[in-house]
This record gives sequence, structure tokens and C-alpha cells, in this order.
Amino acid sequence: MLEPEPFRIKVVEPLSRLSKEERKEKIRSAGYNVFKLDAEDVFIDMLTDSGMSAMSDRQWGKMFTTEQSYAGSSSYRLLEKAVSDIFGFDRFVTVHQGRAAENILFSTTVKEGDFVPNNMHFDTTYANVKHKGGTPVNLVVDEAYDSGSPGDFKGNMDISKLKEFLEEKDNVPVIMLTITNNTAGGQPVSMKNIREVSRLAREHDIPLFLDACRFAENAFFIKTKEKGYADKSIKEIVKEMFSYADGFTFSAKKDGLTNIGGILGVRNEELHKKCIELGIIIEGFPTYGGMACRELAAMAQGIRESTDIQYLDYRHQQIKYLGDLLHEAGIPIARPVGGHAVFIDADKFLPDVPQVEFPAQSLTAELYMEGGIRGVELGTSAFGEMDEEGNVIPAPLEFLRLAIPRRVYTINHLNFVAQCVASLYEKRENIKGLKRTYAPKLLGHFMAEFEPL
Ligand code: F0G
Repeated sequence: MLEPEPFRIKVVEPLSRLSKEERKEKIRSAGYNVFKLDAEDVFIDMLTDSGMSAMSDRQWGKMFTTEQSYAGSSSYRLLEKAVSDIFGFDRFVTVHQGRAAENILFSTTVKEGDFVPNNMHFDTTYANVKHKGGTPVNLVVDEAYDSGSPGDFKGNMDISKLKEFLEEKDNVPVIMLTITNNTAGGQPVSMKNIREVSRLAREHDIPLFLDACRFAENAFFIKTKEKGYADKSIKEIVKEMFSYADGFTFSAKKDGLTNIGGILGVRNEELHKKCIELGIIIEGFPTYGGMACRELAAMAQGIRESTDIQYLDYRHQQIKYLGDLLHEAGIPIARPVGGHAVFIDADKFLPDVPQVEFPAQSLTAELYMEGGIRGVELGTSAFGEMDEEGNVIPAPLEFLRLAIPRRVYTINHLNFVAQCVASLYEKRENIKGLKRTYAPKLLGHFMAEFEPL
């Protein structure tokens, strides 16, 4: 039996559903790209878990009672205390979202020709490294590329690949480790792995930065799966995870349970100063960092709430529930399910559609037409490359991701999603691929357009 949600609903947002004919027209005029749909035309929005959380009454309360000021706001002091209590960091830069932290970090550390290894870069870290003239490199364990392979920590960095890489290259200014590994299914990274990456980083005198968007979900997996952590509290686990890092980038839009906000944590005093200086130019004075002060108050409270074990239990149970429904219906998904989403393996779902015809993108459009459900493509449109002649080079994984926003949807919403996916699976032989008619070079998937083949 499922445990009841550890909250009750105080405010509701009505949803309405267009007819199937209307949805077909909407997606056609959106160029078969769900980023171009109007949100009001979406019934269940699983595009992302980012910035989509339902905030608690405590967060709203703190937002209302904090004063607005340019410098020295009390919400900044609340955030300072939360960052120190939860992450064990005294130096940080406040930013409006994760990619702003990445921009500041890579602008101050990466130069033309440098390499940045990561277990797996997410699209924005990848693009931010490239934007500074660096080369992002993914060194995740091989199991990550096999959506059906078992394994508790399929997000881990491959230690021998990293070791070899660091011995070969002398222009690595920073090592990143993404917890959880969003790109390959929201898979967690073990404490042992964080410790080993940190040891290698120190041996080579290179700072280790966590991409910590989903730090609490990662800590939950460590508690429930890694030997020696069952009796530790989430807060203790989080503290230990961050103790191995020299810094972190954080989008509070995920495990900060907010609609906007981010943090760049930096231990080194010199680097921190540089980041603050650049932060002031592009984000604003550190005590507001590109936001209204109330957003800092929501973030300070949200970081604390996301480490609550009852909340994390409920959160994981929801993801697992949807994953189990799909798996039992025979639908190929990345298993075990990760921390924030269910990832459908579009390569296996549509084996006759080659990756150059964007099977995951096609499935994403089909699911919208089927039930008004908006997932997101994390496959060749998002992560594929283009050669000199403009030919598509497929991505290593081809996923349709159904991200579950935090504290937003009920079990009945998830039942409906599973029914719609199952009904598409029954008619999968009729689903064709897409032709891409437009895509900018960096982060092209946001603006890309397609036509049915
Ligand atoms: N790193 C990871 C692992 C992410 O998943 C994201 C965002 C970012 C960095 C950037 O954070 O959006 O606040 O600038 N991921 C969202 C997603 C957008 O849908 O997975 P941001």
C-alpha cells in the first residue's frame, strides 16, 4: 500500500483539457516541439520538475514577511544560515537559477582549449562549458548507457576513466559531478563514488564541484541503498556529500522546492571573490542575486524542507509508482527508476524509427496528442550533435522523460499518464519519425522545429 502524502492541499489550480483534434492542431503549429506549446493547452505538465514545485505555507509565509531591500536583506541572512546548516558552506554567490551559477563558475575557471569532465553534463552545463571555449567530457560508468541494466548507482563517475583522463590532460580547471545524473535517468551517485572522485581531484589539485540540483534525492538513495547509511539522517548524509566538494552549482528550482533561485557555493576565498565580482555584473548584488528578496526566503526554507525524510519517502514513492505501472504494462523504461522522473526508452519503444528521425521527439509529440501530457525529449534533439554538413549525429541515449513536479500531482494524475502511455504503446507500429527543419547550434532543442515524415 502507498503511504499517504505527508501534506494536505490548501490551494488548487483548475486544469482543463482540450479535445484531441485541438491538441493535434496545437502541436502542429508548435512545430512538434512541446516547448512551443502554451502551458494552458497542457493538461498534465511533466516537461520538467524544475521551478514547478508547489511551495509550502511556510515558504509563502516567509516570502510575505521578509522585507525587500537592495543590500543586507533578512532573507539573505536566512539563506546564509540554511546554506551553512545544510551544505556546510560559508561562501556562496546567490544567482537566479542553476545556469547562472554555471556561467559564473566556468567564466572564472575555464579558458579556450580546457576540458571539463563530469559523470554526465546536463544540457546547460554542456552549453556553458562550450560557450567558454572548453570541451565538456562525460565519464559516467558504462551501465548508464544501458537503460535496462540493473545497478543501484548508475550515475557514478567511472573512476578508472577519470584517472586515465586526468593523467592524460593537464588543462582540466575543474571536475564536475552531477547528483543525481539527470541525463541518464536521474540516477544517483554513491557516497563512495563522491569520495573517490574527490580523492582523485585532490591528488591532481583540481577543484571538485557538485552539480547539486537534486542533492536531497541523491541523499535519499544513499540512505536507502548504500551500505552503512541506513541509520544516518538525510542531513548527515548531505553534509558528508558536500564535505568532499570544493564548490557546487545549485538550481533551487529542483531540490530547493522553489519556482526560481540558485546558488554557487565556493570554498576558496580568491575564487569566491572573483565569482562575487562577476555575479554583481550579471546577477546583481549578492544579497539579492538576480531575484526579489522574497525568493531567497522561499529558497532558504525550501532547502530545509527537501531534506525531510517523510517528504523524500513520498517523493520517491510517486516516481516508483509511475515507473512500476509502465514497467508492468511492458513499456521500456530506464530502471531502476531515478529520483525525479520516469525515463521512457524511445529507441526500444519505437525500434523501427532510427535516431536520425528523432524517435523520442516523435513520442513526446504523440503523448501530447494522446492525453495532453507534456514530457520532454532527452535524446538526439537535446544531446545529438551535427557534423560539418549538418547531418545529425545521434545521442547515446534516446529518452522521453516524464518529470514529476514536487508536491503537485496526485496518484490519479499518474494513473492517467500511465494509461495514455500504454495506449500509445499498443499503437506504436503506426508512430513515425520526424524531420528536423530548424535548430540553433547551442541548446537547439528548445527552439527546434519538426515535420512529420
Ligand atoms: N544541472 C542539472 C543537472 C539540471 O537538471 C539543470 C536543469 C541545470 C543544471 C540548470 O538549472 O534550469 O536552474 O538553470 N534542469 C532542468 C530540467 C531544466 O528540466 O531537467 P537551471
